[in-house]
Amino acid sequence: LNFNVSRERRYILEVLFNGLRRLEYRGYDSAGISIDSSIYSGSDLNRQIFTPPLVFRQEGNIESLVKSVYQDVDATDLNLEESFSIHAGIAHTRWATHGEPAPRNSHPQTSDAGNEFLVVHNGVVTNYEVLKETLVRHGFTFESETDTEVIPKLAKFVFDKANEEGDQSVTFSQVVIEVMRHLEGAYALIFKSRHYPNELIACKRGSPLLLGVKELAEEASIGASFNDTKFLSSNGQPKELFLSSDANALVEHTKKVLVVEDGEVVHLKDGGVSILKFDQAKGKRGGTLSRPASVQRALSILEMEVEQINKGKYEHYMQKEIHEQPESLTTTMRGRLIRGGSCKAKTVLLGGLKDHLKTIRRSRRIVFIGCGTSYNASLAARPILEELSGIPVTMEIASDLLDRQGPIYREDTAVFVSQSGETADTLNALEYALENGALCVGITNTVGSAIARKTHCGVHINAGAEIGVASTKAYTSQIVVMAMLALAIGGDLISSQERREAVIDGLFDLPSKVKEVLKLDQEMKDLAKLLIAEQSLLVFGRGYNYATALEGALKVKEVALMHSEGILAGEMKHGPLALVDETLPIFVIATRDACFSKQQSVIQQLHARKGRLIVMCTKGDAASVCVGGSCRVIEVPQAEDCLQPVINIVPLQLLAYHLTVLRGHNVDQPRNLAKSVTTE
Ligand code: G6P
Repeated sequence: LNFNVSRERRYILEVLFNGLRRLEYRGYDSAGISIDSSIYSGSDLNRQIFTPPLVFRQEGNIESLVKSVYQDVDATDLNLEESFSIHAGIAHTRWATHGEPAPRNSHPQTSDAGNEFLVVHNGVVTNYEVLKETLVRHGFTFESETDTEVIPKLAKFVFDKANEEGDQSVTFSQVVIEVMRHLEGAYALIFKSRHYPNELIACKRGSPLLLGVKELAEEASIGASFNDTKFLSSNGQPKELFLSSDANALVEHTKKVLVVEDGEVVHLKDGGVSILKFDQAKGKRGGTLSRPASVQRALSILEMEVEQINKGKYEHYMQKEIHEQPESLTTTMRGRLIRGGSCKAKTVLLGGLKDHLKTIRRSRRIVFIGCGTSYNASLAARPILEELSGIPVTMEIASDLLDRQGPIYREDTAVFVSQSGETADTLNALEYALENGALCVGITNTVGSAIARKTHCGVHINAGAEIGVASTKAYTSQIVVMAMLALAIGGDLISSQERREAVIDGLFDLPSKVKEVLKLDQEMKDLAKLLIAEQSLLVFGRGYNYATALEGALKVKEVALMHSEGILAGEMKHGPLALVDETLPIFVIATRDACFSKQQSVIQQLHARKGRLIVMCTKGDAASVCVGGSCRVIEVPQAEDCLQPVINIVPLQLLAYHLTVLRGHNVDQPRNLAKSVTTE
């Protein structure tokens, strides 16, 4: 960060803390920060070399870190009011993969007690054990159980070696590039070093990384390509430069961003930026480290508003996101559905697919691949996809496809569904499908995400930023996008025209129906009060709503921390029936569709075993679903059958939300979970 001298150090801390708060949903079991301990200027760099950067690391959420930093700061000689011209700080919030949540395992990880090199890392270094062994042999001692710790130590090793070999002019980027040469796995990294005051280096492979540029005095010219000389010193204005794994942390500062590509190394120095390309193939030249070429990149504009990432009038993000579904669905469909006009045609336009629809229609199979809620959304859309496309549609949980190395063919269309567009398993499955020659389609909520960039074509769901760890509005928007995909693949087949038009009408009606079903909020809160002390909840569904059962149970499980299982009602007699007694609550989805009478018979059989039933049915159907026993009924508006899952999930989302609040758990940051699972 390059400021004019009147700014205070406290500003740096607050910028970093706020950035972490915006990223907290990605990991929240420990956090850390590093800032410079003393002020230095370009002509007084030696001071920095002898005064190592300060590092604070704390177990728990961001606020515990904030508290501990201010406490420590007050107790040390760090003067918060000290002013400075340039400052480079880094911070991190962690979701533990290697090593328990503890200060020693938090980031920044350090090279040594003197903090010569500091690193924050998102991702996993898969060959860290081998690297660790080598470094231990060279005298390094490790204090954490993380994979990350090898990175700063490797940087110190490279730096020391270059100096021993007489290369005193080794640059920070050369050191980092040499480190990258040894790393396997996925990473977005930011390096800070006492040897390179006023500098930060960021680099990435696999994990997301964005650079944000804010010119304090004058607007940066958009679209201007930049490299080390041209961009940085073009107007000589002070600027703030930000690096983050998510746009959420940038948008309140700037909308001017650069999506860093794999293999790029971003070097911030004295308030300027240069971007270098790391080439794995190029090694050391004649004992000295190679000098990488710089590349020119253009800034782009984030299409995101700060309001989107605030809670507004709601207490929790999950609550806000559930309630904004009428609007998010409208945005998902905007400009894509056409009804009326002179020819009265009803049709769907998915711009991101138009050049590939023919290939998709010729595919031998369409395979949907995703994890968690994204997988469930694909399952919800499967019946309409099969019906309108006439092509076999299969589902794969990304990790399972990879575990089995399941067959993917050139003649397949593989659709990758992911809210974040960064889920490691889904990304790995994408690489696998690309290698096998399939046409790869992305359905994501994140423009510029890895899945959006690496697929051949795709559709953005445009649901707006989703911050609650449990996915809600992205789920319903994903189903809607997949229903539109089914319509697009179905094309203009005469045989299914009537059905297609009914689906299009149904899509138009969805937002108002979702608004209506949201009125069940209080009813679901009352139900949550009844269920508050339960150990377990079964959710039965079938046909279009098998996915609703899985997704409803997933919501209850992940946020309310209550055991819950989605059960395919057709499988009831093959096991689940054994669980039924007068104590276990069972939620049955029995809205009107072709499976309705079968669900009626399921309800009767559950009654016969004295099951404690809560039945979701179509408005006006209470008497037909509750024959032969007592049950609590939730009535929902009726939609076109294939779109009913969008309506039916809402009461279950509300139930999970209220159960969580009543049980006193953290709604937006459920225990042990993270929003973007960027590690396998
Ligand atoms: C995590 C999140 C879930 C999400 C899943 C897949 O488990 O907690 O909410 O459904 O990842 O994420 P994706 O971003 O690929 O949809």
